[in-house]
Amino acid sequence: MSVKEFLSISGITKTYGVVKALSSVTFSVRKGEIHTILGENGAGKSTLVKIIKGRKNRTPARSPWTARQ
Ligand SMILES: Nc1ncnc2c1ncn2[C@@H]1O[C@H](COP(=O)(O)OP(=O)(O)OP(=O)(O)O)[C@@H](O)[C@H]1O
Ligand SMILES: [Mg+2]
Repeated sequence: MSVKEFLSISGITKTYGVVKALSSVTFSVRKGEIHTILGENGAGKSTLVKIIKGRKNRTPARSPWTARQ
């Protein structure tokens, strides 16, 4: 079975104003794997999927907000 990476993201951060929805998310999926994203309401599941699908842009790593952390 092939173990090639199918999807790989790293350091994904997304802020909505002062709300930090995602903080340096790293995630990879190999071909054939099935994953479930679990989390409480507002954990950032939808935001992560929208970024993976390209429907939202991540917050640039060097934004002023991130730089203050
Ligand atoms: N368009 C937006 N504008 C401002 N804040 C947002 C926006 N979308 C999401 N958020 C905030 O970002 C955080 C993550 O939200 P998100 O919808 O990604 O979580 P979720 O895990 O999908 O939640 P749920 O289980 O309720 O669907 C929450 O604090 C939410 O209020
Ligand atoms: Mg959601």
